[in-house]
Amino acid sequence: MKCTLVNFLTGLPIFASSALSQCPDYSEYSKQVHPPLSTGRYNLSYMRPTPECRTFTSPVVEDAIKNMQTTIKDPDLYRLFENSFPNTLDTAVKWRGFAVNNSEEELTFLITGDINAMWLRDSANQMQSYLPLVSANSSHNSLASLYRGVINLQARYILEAPFCNSFQPPIESGIGPSQNQEKPDVFIPNVSTTVAFECKYELDSLAAFLEISTNYYEATGDIDFFGKFQWTEAIHTIIATTESLLIGTYASNGSVNTIPYTWKRETTSATETLDNDGRGNPVQSGTGLVRSAFRPSDDSTIFQLFIPANMMFAQYLDSASEIMNKIGGQRNTSNHMHNFAGRIRDAISKYGIVNNPKYGQIYAFEVDGYGSQNIMDDANIPSLLSAPFLGYLNATDPIYQNTRKLILSADNPYYMRGPVINAVGGPHAGLGQAWPMASIIRIFTTSNVGEIEGTLREIVSSTSGLGLIHESVNSFDAGKWTRQWFSWANGFFGQCLLDLQARGLGRVLSTSYQ
Ligand SMILES: *[C@@H]1O[C@H](CO)[C@@H](O)[C@H](O)[C@H]1NC(C)=O
Ligand SMILES: *[C@@H]1O[C@H](CO)[C@@H](O)[C@H](O)[C@H]1NC(C)=O
Ligand SMILES: *[C@@H]1O[C@H](CO)[C@@H](O)[C@H](O)[C@H]1NC(C)=O
Ligand SMILES: *[C@@H]1O[C@H](CO)[C@@H](O)[C@H](O)[C@H]1NC(C)=O
Ligand SMILES: *[C@@H]1O[C@H](CO)[C@@H](O)[C@H](O)[C@H]1NC(C)=O
Ligand SMILES: *[C@@H]1O[C@H](CO)[C@@H](O)[C@H](O)[C@H]1NC(C)=O
Ligand SMILES: *[C@@H]1O[C@H](CO)[C@@H](O)[C@H](O)[C@H]1NC(C)=O
Repeated sequence: MKCTLVNFLTGLPIFASSALSQCPDYSEYSKQVHPPLSTGRYNLSYMRPTPECRTFTSPVVEDAIKNMQTTIKDPDLYRLFENSFPNTLDTAVKWRGFAVNNSEEELTFLITGDINAMWLRDSANQMQSYLPLVSANSSHNSLASLYRGVINLQARYILEAPFCNSFQPPIESGIGPSQNQEKPDVFIPNVSTTVAFECKYELDSLAAFLEISTNYYEATGDIDFFGKFQWTEAIHTIIATTESLLIGTYASNGSVNTIPYTWKRETTSATETLDNDGRGNPVQSGTGLVRSAFRPSDDSTIFQLFIPANMMFAQYLDSASEIMNKIGGQRNTSNHMHNFAGRIRDAISKYGIVNNPKYGQIYAFEVDGYGSQNIMDDANIPSLLSAPFLGYLNATDPIYQNTRKLILSADNPYYMRGPVINAVGGPHAGLGQAWPMASIIRIFTTSNVGEIEGTLREIVSSTSGLGLIHESVNSFDAGKWTRQWFSWANGFFGQCLLDLQARGLGRVLSTSYQ
């Protein structure tokens, strides 16, 4: 941790506290139990760092935590909320400051947790936890400022390397890059490891920029912000990048197309590389779906026409087109975004909906445009289960309901079942590992009180006494979990409880989960 109080490049103050160097490493801290334990049967650890060791403090977030104390009756559920909701602010705001070439341009380097790098997807979701508490505020100490800083830094990253998913600290921070693979990945277009931590091309990473932009705009109405820095240029890059990925494997004369992105890693895991010399499995031309080489789990897709990311991209491309429209002088780009989003929606309806003998019409997880379908769901968001949360469709949509029934059953090859927790998992953490994140999105997408309470009970009972949301938990053994410090999932749990209140389902917060 760097302790400089003044940024060496800009001479402007940076906000990293000098006290942080004496603070425990949270990747170790989050593996140990700290008193006082919660008073329920699960004896959950207190997991917040001491106030001087927190990476950001927000009075509105502290107030929300205090308010919930009287609302949530179960002591273990409250402890889990109290630990998890502020986790991003407590631990992941690695650096804040201003751009070297523009002293007005706020920057926020937000790490994913246990890995010292900023993911486009994670950082957009990490900020989203606090969305209900965000309002217009020009103060550099506000949640709105954190948002602006993340959007500005994401715009810079996308302009530098639009095919990458995870990035190194900005030069202004003075924090050095982290190493990912010992043997560098081989990919086109090549990007320096001092810029990007990893360059898995994932459509949802670009959609995440559109999502966080929409979230900030809708919460604050701050249209001026979008005209000030590199937002418009980043959107142009996103359009060009995704349009270049509408390409199929073969041209109509049979020749193999040159595709703009290929990627290979030396690995023993099939999900960590792409076959056909880094191009992936063939996809049909002319479907109107945008390819994605990887999923939001950072695992490779089997068929690159990945439906959940196309849903998310179409949804937020359309909402961001309204921001573009209001900036001024950008009407054509705005129309272009809106029309492109509509074409993707049509393509999802044409290629992404399939007939299942048991469930009827359902959404496929991935297709290749030739008729092959991958029927499953993965825990990471965007997933099929999350489609209403993304705003792509209503939870009452009959095709969604058919799909949901399949996803939450033994007919989903990645639905993990057992005495500890029943939830969607995925190849990333492996067979048998259920993801609490998928339990959380299950709660977000239902109003059934019994289903919500049953799902909350499993989450509260399966943290292995640590009182944090883990990446995955073995469905037969709560002691077998992955990632002690996964910031996104923690904030997401807090956001979910606030959402239950907002949806008029707050009574589940008075239930006992003992
Ligand atoms: C919690 O602590 C109580 C009292 O020490 C103990 O009886 C109980 O077994 C503990 N429960 C768990 C899940 O560790
Ligand atoms: C400002 O500098 C950063 C860091 O070198 C660079 O990435 C960014 O593109 C620059 N911004 C502009 C508007 O030139
Ligand atoms: C803006 O944020 C700062 C820092 O959190 C806070 O002190 C101030 O009250 C906020 N202003 C408004 C108008 O909410
Ligand atoms: C990618 O660029 C790095 C330098 O940034 C270079 O060392 C490496 O050889 C390049 N890889 C390929 C496959 O071109
Ligand atoms: C086949 O079509 C592609 C795309 O239109 C073109 O680039 C290529 O030159 C054509 N190849 C031949 C052998 O005609
Ligand atoms: C905007 O689109 C219209 C209609 O397609 C075109 O005539 C005009 O030249 C475009 N304007 C700009 C600034 O690109
Ligand atoms: C969801 O339903 C509402 C009310 O019926 C409707 O206005 C809205 O357009 C629907 N949203 C989507 C994405 O279909």
